Amino acid sequence: MIKWQGKLENMIAKKPAGWFAKKMYSNPSGHYRAFRLTLDKLKLKADDIFLEIGCGGGVLLNMALEIVKQAKAIDHSYDMVQIAKQKNQKALSDCRVEIIQGNAESLPWNDNTFTAATAANMFFFIEKPMTVLKEFYRVLKPGGRLVITSTEDSILPKLLFVLWFHSMHLYKNSVMESMLKQAGFQTVEVKNMGMFCQLSYAEK
Ligand SMILES: C[S@@+](CC[C@H](N)C(=O)[O-])C[C@H]1O[C@@H](n2cnc3c(N)ncnc32)[C@H](O)[C@@H]1O
Repeated sequence: MIKWQGKLENMIAKKPAGWFAKKMYSNPSGHYRAFRLTLDKLKLKADDIFLEIGCGGGVLLNMALEIVKQAKAIDHSYDMVQIAKQKNQKALSDCRVEIIQGNAESLPWNDNTFTAATAANMFFFIEKPMTVLKEFYRVLKPGGRLVITSTEDSILPKLLFVLWFHSMHLYKNSVMESMLKQAGFQTVEVKNMGMFCQLSYAEK
């Protein structure tokens, strides 16, 4: 990959930084469909303990906090953590949410902490997918649900994301399914939802 492509990819998507990224992820209009699909599938209830990795500007987190009482989120971008905190200021001051800067490959929470977890539009940036899936498994309680929205592995998205597709990790549904099972998940379902969206659902 050319050096400027890598820098652009980081600034805009992989580790967003700067005023443009902050503006974009404060209201990521292109991501609302994935947020809706995630919430429809997770069917959150007030007593769920929700986790989001790669939370970006905290918009999905904010939607989840309209339902759940307790949530936690992690993102490795300093700027994203700042805007996610602004977006969820009220829940933060009510001690209903924790938003931290860190790597999703090593989650700073105990085993069996959460009942519902998600990664929206970010799993394709994960360098060690099995590590992250095992981390999800570890921190979820038995029966906990996981939804990952990503991009299906086919030619059209590769053309669309031509600038950085060679550093994106896209998986066929069957591969995603076997990785989730390998991580320990019992009930696993991976589907294409149209508009290049791949939705993976799994239960511990
Ligand atoms: C394309 S953005 C999506 C943000 C948000 N989930 C959304 O849908 O609007 C990808 C996000 O994942 C974060 N991210 C990527 N790799 C990560 C990692 N290994 N650990 C934590 N966050 C990560 C980035 O910083 C960025 O905020």
